[in-house]
Amino acid sequence: MDSSAVSKSTGQPPEALYRPFMCKVESVRDLTPTEKLFRLTRLDGQAFGHRPGQFMQVSVLGIGEAPISVSSSATRGDYLELGVRKAGTLTAAMHELKAGATIGLRGPFGTFFDTDAMKGKDLLLISGGCGLAPMRALIQYVEDRRREFARVTILYGAKSPQDVLYADEIAQWQRSQTLACQLTVDAIPGGTCWDGNIGLITELIRPLEIDPARTIAAVVGPPVMYPFVIEQLEKKRLRPEQILVSLERYMKCGVGKCGHCAIEHLYCCMDGPVFSLAQVMSLRSAI
Ligand SMILES: Cc1cc2nc3c(=O)[nH]c(=O)nc-3n(C[C@H](O)[C@H](O)[C@H](O)COP(=O)(O)OP(=O)(O)OC[C@H]3O[C@@H](n4cnc5c(N)ncnc54)[C@H](O)[C@@H]3O)c2cc1C
Ligand code: FES
Repeated sequence: MDSSAVSKSTGQPPEALYRPFMCKVESVRDLTPTEKLFRLTRLDGQAFGHRPGQFMQVSVLGIGEAPISVSSSATRGDYLELGVRKAGTLTAAMHELKAGATIGLRGPFGTFFDTDAMKGKDLLLISGGCGLAPMRALIQYVEDRRREFARVTILYGAKSPQDVLYADEIAQWQRSQTLACQLTVDAIPGGTCWDGNIGLITELIRPLEIDPARTIAAVVGPPVMYPFVIEQLEKKRLRPEQILVSLERYMKCGVGKCGHCAIEHLYCCMDGPVFSLAQVMSLRSAI
């Protein structure tokens, strides 16, 4: 499966690539002390047309723009959710927004997880840290079209219990009869109650029984996670075509014009962010 075949950005008319459309903030939910979830609808009533794995360019007027992954599936309705960590100027301005505010968006941009090619397959959905934001969109899609997929296993790793995103939804996935879901944290700060797994996410992969003939793995997380997770998946005899990775690079335009996001000859904003490992394994700076 070659995800670059899925989307060379958007097929949108040129003016739509550059001009933000306005959205209403329907709700804002605290996820952790530094992360908030924003639910948005378009003021013009149109659908966003987003697919799991894509990103939006989000603008707070007068402040600037930042790429943020789509965190909800279009199968849930005509809204879009963005999980945003307060990192600097733009994201801090977003964190000040309340329900009823307006915000600008361009997109959706980039390649996506090819859910058609995943039909009938066992899915291994692996995310770490903030990577659960884009992975959540894929998980929601798979939940809503559950019959189209075979076994579904979700693995998520966070630094500590305080850093676990979407804890309520993870608890639901763990209770689900139709999904398997495991959570681990790297470490437990003193005074914290925790009776779950402790250790790196690779520890969750090692004991899994995987049928390499029918499995597709999707991986989203911090750069440090990829080499170790990929090593484990290769030990399970998954081929590079069966391993999908979402890569993050500094972005400005989001539409293949400025070159900020280049990974050698690839533009992360258009050729990615979702790549098959086969596409990027020979590029030294990719993983
Ligand atoms: C495809 C893509 C998807 C992303 N999805 C999400 C998401 O779902 N949720 C989320 O919270 N963040 C996401 N990010 C990261 C987000 O874009 C940055 O945190 C944001 O641009 C920071 O902007 P700022 O003005 O708040 O920070 P600035 O004031 O510009 O910088 C503050 C800090 O953020 C770092 N930073 C700035 N830009 C980026 C960047 N593009 N990538 C990584 N670090 C950056 C800087 O090094 C600095 O340390 C994504 C980035 C990309 C490229
Ligand atoms: S962000 Fe401008 S080319 Fe990719």
